[in-house]
Amino acid sequence: MTTTADYTEKIPNNVSLHEDRRLQRALESWQPNFLNWWQTMGPTLPTQDVYLRTAVNVGREGWAQFGHVPMPEYRWGIFLAERDPGRRVGFGEHKGEPVWDKVPGEYRSELQRLIVIQGDTEPASVEQQRNLGATAPSLYDLRNLFQVNVEEGRHLWAMVYLLHAYFGREGREEAEELLHRNSGSIDSPRILGAFNEETPDWLSFYMFTYFTDRDGKYQLGTLKESAFDPLSRTCEFMLKEEAHHMMVGTTGIDRIVQRTVEVMREHDTDDVAGLGAIPLPMIQKYLNFHYSVSLDLFGGETSTNVANYYTAGLKGRWLEDRRRDDHMLASDSIMVDALSEDARTGEQSIGLTEVSALVGLNTDLRREYISDCQGGVKRWNRILDEGGVKQRLKLPHIAFNRKVGAFAAIEATPDGERLSAEEWQRRSGEWLPTDVDKTYVRSLMQPVHERGKIAAWIAPPRNGINGQPFDYDYVHLI
Ligand SMILES: [Fe+2]
Ligand SMILES: [Fe+2]
Repeated sequence: MTTTADYTEKIPNNVSLHEDRRLQRALESWQPNFLNWWQTMGPTLPTQDVYLRTAVNVGREGWAQFGHVPMPEYRWGIFLAERDPGRRVGFGEHKGEPVWDKVPGEYRSELQRLIVIQGDTEPASVEQQRNLGATAPSLYDLRNLFQVNVEEGRHLWAMVYLLHAYFGREGREEAEELLHRNSGSIDSPRILGAFNEETPDWLSFYMFTYFTDRDGKYQLGTLKESAFDPLSRTCEFMLKEEAHHMMVGTTGIDRIVQRTVEVMREHDTDDVAGLGAIPLPMIQKYLNFHYSVSLDLFGGETSTNVANYYTAGLKGRWLEDRRRDDHMLASDSIMVDALSEDARTGEQSIGLTEVSALVGLNTDLRREYISDCQGGVKRWNRILDEGGVKQRLKLPHIAFNRKVGAFAAIEATPDGERLSAEEWQRRSGEWLPTDVDKTYVRSLMQPVHERGKIAAWIAPPRNGINGQPFDYDYVHLI
């Protein structure tokens, strides 16, 4: 197995594709369908070329190269992290056995399902973000959007490779379906809720890349532990690219908060809506929305499916090898979020309940995610603090605006106080973006496609890309 990419082939890869003619042909016949999807569902803004990072290797150093590339000619390739020949299963009933190079028949449908669900999210986000180019706040941001888009396209390739290489005809059919479902489609929507929401403006885009791409990071982290070695190695490499997507989100929100603080101070007012900046309460509402829909992506608090995936060795925990337990969890327990009912009055309240650790694995993963999300809030609050502003941003309560899991049936404020359905109807506009908020944010989205210039609602970045300055010609428009 070689680890350098073969760029002379139609499909760059480090999986020795040329040695398997059938697979190569199958993927080469999927390729035009992918390109057709990219042309019809991908970025709408016409460009000549974009300064993009392309994965060319998976080694520790120099895994990517940068250069101006016409987007439809981007070299979407198949890369698996280097193989560890001594790798063994790290958890579940096969713990200690050598990892699998093939799909065991007994786990075939489960593994296929996991890969399809992950694969479905990748093109979905490209679809959600397709119109954002027209309103980019700078060429730097425009380039970052397209970078995220082409890499999500590559992640689709990563999952399609697994489906083609290991799941036969069914896998090939699933690969086609990944191009046929579309974000927000009535007839054939994407599988998960958050991937059918709109990303109509750049505040939403940064929130999406902060909160929703971060869900992706945690899902990939659990699949990286998989006993199915090709899946593990694929996800390991995807995580490398994913880090940039989250950097775009984190620093995007940094820069919006920064700009809001500047305008607040300049005019000595909290009400910056008339002054071309985004008011803090509006930023908070967008945060509330994106955080709560991203929490839903982790599924219910308890899941016997996920317990079975773990026991079978298909999907592990976040940083499995750093956990100090037996990695089997057969006799452990965990407290998970739940609605508890008062035996006497029958009244339900937000609380916790004890379940077996295996059944509570979704909760374990969601908690890792939540503590990671706190990091962003801390950073944005530091910007507020340093700017001498008293307000703070925060993550809403776990029961706020949930559509999946224990709290789907109730309504709660961002502070976790229960509300009746009527009260929620009446007051949800205090916490979630209203039409007025969305219209205002959209009114700010005037394109700045001029080199070195930036929109008034966001501060320029501290650093450019790959050592280039902010005023570099990141994108050549037509
Ligand atoms: Fe991705
Ligand atoms: Fe991503």
